[in-house]
Amino acid sequence: MKMEADSIWLFDYDQGMAYERFSQCEDADGAIAQCLSARFDFSNKAILEIGAGSGKFTGFLAERTTSLAVVERSASLIAINESKNRNRADFINSDLGKLDFDADSFDVVFGGWSLTSMRDMFGRVFPILQNAMKKDGQIIIVENAGNDEFTKIAGIEELTSQMRNFYAECGFKEEAVLDTVIRLPNQETFFDAFPNLKAQGIKLPSLEISHKVVIMRASAPDFRLEE
Ligand SMILES: C[S@@+](CC[C@H](N)C(=O)[O-])C[C@H]1O[C@@H](n2cnc3c(N)ncnc32)[C@H](O)[C@@H]1O
Repeated sequence: MKMEADSIWLFDYDQGMAYERFSQCEDADGAIAQCLSARFDFSNKAILEIGAGSGKFTGFLAERTTSLAVVERSASLIAINESKNRNRADFINSDLGKLDFDADSFDVVFGGWSLTSMRDMFGRVFPILQNAMKKDGQIIIVENAGNDEFTKIAGIEELTSQMRNFYAECGFKEEAVLDTVIRLPNQETFFDAFPNLKAQGIKLPSLEISHKVVIMRASAPDFRLEE
C-alpha cells in the first residue's frame, strides 16, 4: 500500500484553537472514553501518547497513571494540551520519527486518530515504537471506522477502509466499533478546522454528524510492518 500523507485531507495543525474547538465536539457523548476504561487497564502503566494534539485523550490518560509522555509535533496544539494538563505529563514537542526512546520504556503506546496521520513515515515510526514498548506492552489506537457521515463529508472513505485493512495486517485486533456523534454548535466550528472542505463547497447535512470509530489493539510482539 502506498502511504502518501498529501493524498488526502489533513487538518491545518497550525490552527490550534480551530482544531481544539472541533475536537471538543467529537464523541460528544463520551462513548470512546467509556469503552476505553471498560476494556483496558491503564492504571499505573507507563504510557506514551503519540500525536496527542490538543489533548482529546491526554486528560483521560493522565487521570489513570502517573507516568505519561506526550508527543506532538504541532507547537500550537501541544501548547493548548499543556495548558489543560500542566504537570500531569511530560510534553515532547517533536516529530515522533525523530525521537529515540530507551528500549522497553512503555507498557502502553496510545494514539487517538494519530497513527494514520503518520502513514508517510511508518518505516521510521514503527521501529521506534517497537523498541520503546516493553515486551509485554501493547499499542492501542482509536481510528475512523468508515461507513458514516463524517468519512463521507471529509472524503476519506477509501483511505479509511485501506487503513483498517492495513492495521489488521500489522497485527491489530479490532476491540470495538462505536457509533459516536460529532455535535457542533455551528457550521463554522467544522469548517474552521477543515478549510479545504469549505473551499470545495461541501455542505453539512446537520450539526450532528455520525462518526463510527474503531478501537484497535496490538501486543508488542504482534505489532509489525509487513515486509
Ligand atoms: C487527527 S489529530 C489527533 C489529535 C488528538 N490525538 C485528538 O484525538 O484530538 C493527529 C495528530 O497527530 C499529530 N502528528 C502527526 N504526525 C506526527 C508526527 N510524525 N509526530 C508527532 N505528531 C504527529 C498531528 O500534529 C495531530 O495533532
